[in-house]
Amino acid sequence: MTTHTPTNSAPSISVFPTHRVSKIDRNIYSGFTEHMGRCIYTGIYDPTNPNKDLITTEGFRKDVLEALRPLDIPVFRYPGGNFCATYHWQDGIGPRDQRPARPELAWGNIESNHFGTDEFMAWCKAVNAEPYLCLNFGTGTLDEAMAWLEYCNGTKDTYYANLRRKNGHTEPYNVKYWALGNEMWGDWQLNQMTQEAYADRAFQWAKALKLLDPTIQLILCGKEGPTSWDYHTLKHCLRPAGLSDLGEERFPLVDMHSIHIYTASEDHYENVTAPLAAERAIEVCSSLIDLAFVENKLPPTQKRPTICFDEWNVWSPPRAPGSAGAEEVYTLSDALAVAVWLNVFVRKSKDVGMACIAQSVNVISPLMTNEKGIVKQTTWWPYELFCRFMKGHTIAVHVACDAYTGPTKPNWVRATKETPWLDVSATVDDDGYVTVCVVNMHLDSDLKTAFAGPAGVKVTVYSITGSDAKGTNMAGKEEVGMTESEWDSSKDADFVFPKCSVTMLRWKIT
Ligand code: AHR
Repeated sequence: MTTHTPTNSAPSISVFPTHRVSKIDRNIYSGFTEHMGRCIYTGIYDPTNPNKDLITTEGFRKDVLEALRPLDIPVFRYPGGNFCATYHWQDGIGPRDQRPARPELAWGNIESNHFGTDEFMAWCKAVNAEPYLCLNFGTGTLDEAMAWLEYCNGTKDTYYANLRRKNGHTEPYNVKYWALGNEMWGDWQLNQMTQEAYADRAFQWAKALKLLDPTIQLILCGKEGPTSWDYHTLKHCLRPAGLSDLGEERFPLVDMHSIHIYTASEDHYENVTAPLAAERAIEVCSSLIDLAFVENKLPPTQKRPTICFDEWNVWSPPRAPGSAGAEEVYTLSDALAVAVWLNVFVRKSKDVGMACIAQSVNVISPLMTNEKGIVKQTTWWPYELFCRFMKGHTIAVHVACDAYTGPTKPNWVRATKETPWLDVSATVDDDGYVTVCVVNMHLDSDLKTAFAGPAGVKVTVYSITGSDAKGTNMAGKEEVGMTESEWDSSKDADFVFPKCSVTMLRWKIT
């Protein structure tokens, strides 16, 4: 929780490590790998790369694995996105030379199916993450979805569990997270649905899937959070699913509600304040979850679903179209926007059970590959710092500073959120480290800030900035990097947050 008081005088930040607001689910640092552009092929799987030293025996990019491993990314969503709507998982298992190539309609490609379920599970193991699978609500059937669940998790002597064993995978994959379709509201979606049609189908599929494996977590396909689609689907699906033969009510069916938002603007201030729309969306969506509880008269014992923000990032589709691979080139301004996005997830940790940056490699991604190696884009640095340090509990912070008052995108951010020059979140982890992330959005002013919290200790400072808000890391030179230094807070209680920067301050409490 971060509170803000507008002031024209010198800014101040007060951090309250003993005031724990809520536990952070590490799943807010999850990733997303879709069969889209160069994310899977040449991004994570590149068996034909001429540089054999770069590739594992399974065909995975070693440099990508080595870059991602230290981030300890907990979950990867797969195989889409929009790709799911025509994906038949059985095309992607068994001997590779017998797998069919298919037209891929979301992004206009040919899908070779050389990378499928078993390869994805092996890749998750290699990067030490859990898989999260998205079901085909476009051209797929419930039978097919249940077969996929049985293939992944089945332990008995049944057809699809045996097929997995026949393909060389004796142990079940125990896939916990399953999404009930992707963006089924969108007019770009194959078999786009009305909210009523989707909610009916999701409820019935959820019932069947949970009968087959009650241990899984199901993620409902919401929209952006504050929409009638979100209201209707929650209202329809957050209700009891009938009685078991023992007369017990069968619920809950839905464990999380998914929402997606992408932000972007060529204007720096619109760009960096846009993620605050996501903060408001989380607040409204969280209220819709409560409203479904109230209207459906659910008992207090019912587990309250969290929000699964399973696609978020800076993305302008006209600038980097999906059909052309969506290879966004990120600027310093975008790095600030990503830090604001992550501040939002930390501030809203009570409501957000998972968030997946879209995407993890090459497609609208902080991490890019070429034939020879990788490039860490500007947005890599805030993502890395949050994954490494912002864990444990969200703690209370108070910020007093002047605010940006110009236009926002969407314009309703202006009406519903404050936009202080300093965007802040703070955490305390289980080892007693306090970490505070401060984004100074101002393009022209360094902000000298009275910083109350560290109480005379040495503070490690991680700083992300550059000489130009439009600076990138893609043209062969790194214009935006991360530096580490130390601040002795016993000598000076003021800290200067440089203009257009992300600063992470970290110290240990006794
Ligand atoms: O992440 C890129 C695409 O954006 C996804 O496939 C889709 O779900 C969203 O519209």
